[in-house]
Amino acid sequence: MYSIHSFTKNYAELYDVLYRDKNYKREFKTIYSYLIRKKKVFNNILELGCGTGTFSKLFLKLKKSRILAIDSSKHMIKIAKKKNNNNRIIYKHLNISDFKSKQRFSLVYALFHVLSYQKNMSQTKNFFKISKKYLSKDGILVCDFLNKKNLIYSKPRQKFKFSRKKNLDIFRYAIPELIKSKNIIKIKYYFSVFDKKKKEASQFTESHTMQYFDLKFIKKIVKENNLKILKIGEPGLDLNRKKANLKSWVLTLVAQRV
Ligand SMILES: C[S@@+](CC[C@H](N)C(=O)[O-])C[C@H]1O[C@@H](n2cnc3c(N)ncnc32)[C@H](O)[C@@H]1O
Repeated sequence: MYSIHSFTKNYAELYDVLYRDKNYKREFKTIYSYLIRKKKVFNNILELGCGTGTFSKLFLKLKKSRILAIDSSKHMIKIAKKKNNNNRIIYKHLNISDFKSKQRFSLVYALFHVLSYQKNMSQTKNFFKISKKYLSKDGILVCDFLNKKNLIYSKPRQKFKFSRKKNLDIFRYAIPELIKSKNIIKIKYYFSVFDKKKKEASQFTESHTMQYFDLKFIKKIVKENNLKILKIGEPGLDLNRKKANLKSWVLTLVAQRV
């Protein structure tokens, strides 16, 4: 039977290699150049679902920034801490719904599907409630989400991925399943890892459940939380263009607390 868990120890240890081809820098640069045009100081930042900390390291480029980064996977956080040993970042193993602080933040961000990992309506509402609560006045929320319109038309297919980490050959087979009645995509990952040095093979599995959202719903929930949409566009490309491409299967949202 495959594991019902996500972001387990096995997965966390391979995560940075599996997503070596993700252009974090380009995505960050687009957000960064959009944010600095706002001429605001983002000194107190909250990152939701920081994973292994690739974005937190990049967001330190915002001058004088201090980042509080949380994640519900202790395995992902452990790697982030090891990778970014910097006194301007604090990592906490915490679920978004359990987050409490006396501080308010000028920037809250949640990138690479974190909002979509909130798999039901109550978690989704909570995501926006927490973001709004901890944003200072005029503070900015940046998050991305799976876009219903394009995701279901693109019909997610089974995918195979090969990655290499030192002496490890990593084979990943992904089987997606759309549950349209719940706006959910479930992905079962089957891993085979071959250690060439030890001449040993191991297998493990993970299950990831994500929610996709109708753009109309996102606009509604943003408004209900006293946030104003500043921009919506394709990650890494669109935020600085006048006309956004809303046809992408992932969209980045920038909103401001009013
Ligand atoms: C695809 S990873 C993205 C990680 C990181 N942001 C990146 O860009 O590499 C999604 C992360 O969100 C975290 N996550 C999902 N739901 C969460 C929740 N409710 N509270 C805290 N972390 C959550 C997962 O543990 C995982 O590390």
